Amino acid sequence: MNIHALLVNRFTEALQEMGVENAPVPVSRSARPEFGEYQFNGAMALAKQLKQKPRDIAEKIVETVKLDDIASKLEVAGPGFINVHLNDEWLSNQCELSLTDPRLGIAKSKEQNIVVDYSSPNLAKEMHVGHLRTTIIGDAVVKVLEFLGHNVIRQNHMGDWGTQFGMLLAHLSDKLQDEVAETALSDLEDFYREAKVRFDEEEGFADRAREYVVKLQGGDAQCLALWEKFIDVSIAHSEEVYDKLNVSLTRKDIMGESAYNDDLANVISDLKAKGLAVEDQGAQVVFIPELADKEGNPAVYIVQKSGGGYLYATTDLAAMRYRSGKLNADRTLILTDARQALHFKQTEIVGRKAGFMKEEQTYEHCPFGMMLGSDGKPFKTRTGGTVKLVELLDEAVERAGKLIAERDNDLSEDELKEVAHKVGIGAVKYADLSKNRTTDYMFNWDSMLSFEGNTAPYLQYAYTRVKSLFRKAGVDMATMPVDINIAEKQEHALAVLLMQFEEVIGTVSREATPHVLCTYLYDVASAFMSFYEACPMLKDGIEPAVRDSRLALSALVAKTLEKGLTLLGIETLEKM
Ligand code: ARG
Repeated sequence: MNIHALLVNRFTEALQEMGVENAPVPVSRSARPEFGEYQFNGAMALAKQLKQKPRDIAEKIVETVKLDDIASKLEVAGPGFINVHLNDEWLSNQCELSLTDPRLGIAKSKEQNIVVDYSSPNLAKEMHVGHLRTTIIGDAVVKVLEFLGHNVIRQNHMGDWGTQFGMLLAHLSDKLQDEVAETALSDLEDFYREAKVRFDEEEGFADRAREYVVKLQGGDAQCLALWEKFIDVSIAHSEEVYDKLNVSLTRKDIMGESAYNDDLANVISDLKAKGLAVEDQGAQVVFIPELADKEGNPAVYIVQKSGGGYLYATTDLAAMRYRSGKLNADRTLILTDARQALHFKQTEIVGRKAGFMKEEQTYEHCPFGMMLGSDGKPFKTRTGGTVKLVELLDEAVERAGKLIAERDNDLSEDELKEVAHKVGIGAVKYADLSKNRTTDYMFNWDSMLSFEGNTAPYLQYAYTRVKSLFRKAGVDMATMPVDINIAEKQEHALAVLLMQFEEVIGTVSREATPHVLCTYLYDVASAFMSFYEACPMLKDGIEPAVRDSRLALSALVAKTLEKGLTLLGIETLEKM
């Protein structure tokens, strides 16, 4: 059920009936419950065209619009707003329909091919917190899009190519004299550091490293085999993180930078042929006048270095063409931190000019802010190193376990373990998902693991409360009577929220903003708590029909929380 879309339709019909064509139909949520739930704000803009006062136009629309079934009251307010108060009977029916539908009444969208480029760690090093946000946010976006029926193509654009691999392979080949790759690469950070020290200090090593780069790019079989060993172990490190995070990426989603290697020369020759790439101090560059500086100098986008080497940008152009042509992507979403915003803006301008994408295909860079420590500075270990994701996640589970054990509970040892895992990982993921992704966010154990406020533990707990309510009532959600009768204002408020799930999912799918879903679930859980206080279900003297209606509404709360959390990649529990 999409109330917003329904209201837009009805108001559009009313305007047409009044002879107004093609006018915008602005319908928004009301700011306060006394103004109803939705507001039509289009009357003011029509005053000129219709040569009437906005309030008179609003009155006319109220007379014309057919909302008897949906609204209990329409009122004209202020300069000409129309407030829509939703009808309890209609809401009751809609809630019943949602409850009996496995999709909770949420329609599928017209199917699109959507490429989502996320996670994309650099394999030269261990996955660190810098890749946490893209991985978690990307996976939630992917799940929402799939739920809406889209064909989602995950693309893990791993950094598995480039000059730094020369140094790493030279070091690896020495190490393999007396070790297997898995052992030599068990700690990628240490390995990288050792290689870098040798590169900077050891005589002849840098030359060997450069030789390796040339051999690798030239397709030398031995060198490629060594490279494959390296990235295989490194991918396994990432998979360990994906596994702990319960993220849906698999090996078949990997389309690393190396995959485009053979196409890079073509990209350059095409750019040259189109007159876009020109030589500048030995390099191949594209000038971008659209992004000129204050003095009017166009931005310079380098696509090939003077030595002939290709860059990150060249690969992204090849990726763009592949996704547009081979994958037929209607939309491409790329999730990286905001520092890459300019790169993707430039890539889009150049790629479009080169005809690497069709006009109607979108290229959407979805930037996010940085993860900061509690001191407001980039998140680091106490000694200033990068925080390894695997260790961070283990710490989350450990901390959650301690907290749960301190709380009043009747969990067995095994159950406690499971709860600690789901709450700990859920807390880390949710803390990240719930913040508007465009801003920096502060990593804080205490707030993310709190059972109060907009956190995973709070929502997981709210879900278990509904479940325990059903256990106490001795009612089975799957077979219970579905007859909802909304009467109290807390029931009304809760039902309205429950009927807004589809709108929320729509926003997340359009804007790649899972925090909108988080806020929504938090609102649902809070509205449930108020409803639970005000509308008793299991007390003596409650009429069976009232009890059943309230239980049914509670069941819809549980299903909504479960669906929402699942889409966010957060696991629910039966008790905690
Ligand atoms: N590997 C890059 C990084 O860690 C992210 C890649 C994002 N995707 C892309 N098509 N450039 O910053």
